[in-house]
Amino acid sequence: MKAVLSSALAAAIFAGSMTSCTQVKKITSPADVKIGFLVKQPEEQWFQNEWTFAQQCADKYGFKLQKIGVPDGEKLLSAIDNLHAQGAQGFVVCVPDVKLGPAVVKKAAEYSMKVFTVDDQFVGPDGSLMTDVPYMGLSARNIGKQVGGELWAEMLKRGWKPEEVAACVPTYDVLNTVKQRTDGATDTLTALGFKKENIFTSAEKALDVPSGMDAANVILTQHAKIEKWIVYSVNDESVIGAIRAMEGRGFAAENVIGIGIGAGQGFNEFKKDKPTGYFACCMISPKRHGFETAELTFKWVLNGAMPPLDTRTAGVMANRENFKQVAKDLGLESLL
Ligand code: GLA
Repeated sequence: MKAVLSSALAAAIFAGSMTSCTQVKKITSPADVKIGFLVKQPEEQWFQNEWTFAQQCADKYGFKLQKIGVPDGEKLLSAIDNLHAQGAQGFVVCVPDVKLGPAVVKKAAEYSMKVFTVDDQFVGPDGSLMTDVPYMGLSARNIGKQVGGELWAEMLKRGWKPEEVAACVPTYDVLNTVKQRTDGATDTLTALGFKKENIFTSAEKALDVPSGMDAANVILTQHAKIEKWIVYSVNDESVIGAIRAMEGRGFAAENVIGIGIGAGQGFNEFKKDKPTGYFACCMISPKRHGFETAELTFKWVLNGAMPPLDTRTAGVMANRENFKQVAKDLGLESLL
């Protein structure tokens, strides 16, 4: 009898310890969830905004969020190691180089971590987009088309003739989501009657203001006789860089029409007393890219709810007159 009791007791203790062991590992409440939000260019306004909204999501649901800048491959992979060491179960990431996608997926699988890609879609070893990893990005070609249409409309409003206008286009074709933007604008402009031979592109080294300025200076040096310019590019920073290059060469704002793509950096241009060549901005949504990606990753970790594989977000045009309202609609009042 004694032996029976003690073995029953031992079984109960064993079962109890199993349960408590499982409980430690099992995620039962939002507070057990920890996710990372890794971005390639933390100094850029867009990524700061994504982090702000991701944090709002973490505060709303009560999970833990770790925000990490990952400007190169080494920092990216060690950030994933650190997240795992701290017990994180997943992360949202905008990688510094889309070719790192397979390495990220491999490491995450080793650690059983969920991966959600934002902004820049992973590229596989064969060069094709990795469509099996959940992704939220811009409907980039449509946004480019909006930019092209708006540039054309403003050209007509100013009474510019297509033969006297050229386009200054800093490009970054190695990254699909940004190539689609400049290609989309070019397609729309040429379809509307802009002269294809007057579109001048120059590759940027990076996606920032100095790179936009350098690329524009190459174009302006090569085509010094042009007096009226339109400017479009991959993001706000690149367009602002090109506008600064034009100002440096003495172009007046009335001879330049620049349209950016972003959500904050261009506000500084609109806030200046006098208009600059930065005429408008196709406003994209860091709330969707920050809050929603964090939310989808959190629910994936908590309940196993698989996020949609491909989510595309739209843009809305803003200029000096309406940008405050557009910013409010996008939840960006704090930047005004
Ligand atoms: C890319 C660009 C960023 C921003 C995002 C938006 O990552 O580098 O500047 O435009 O796309 O998705």
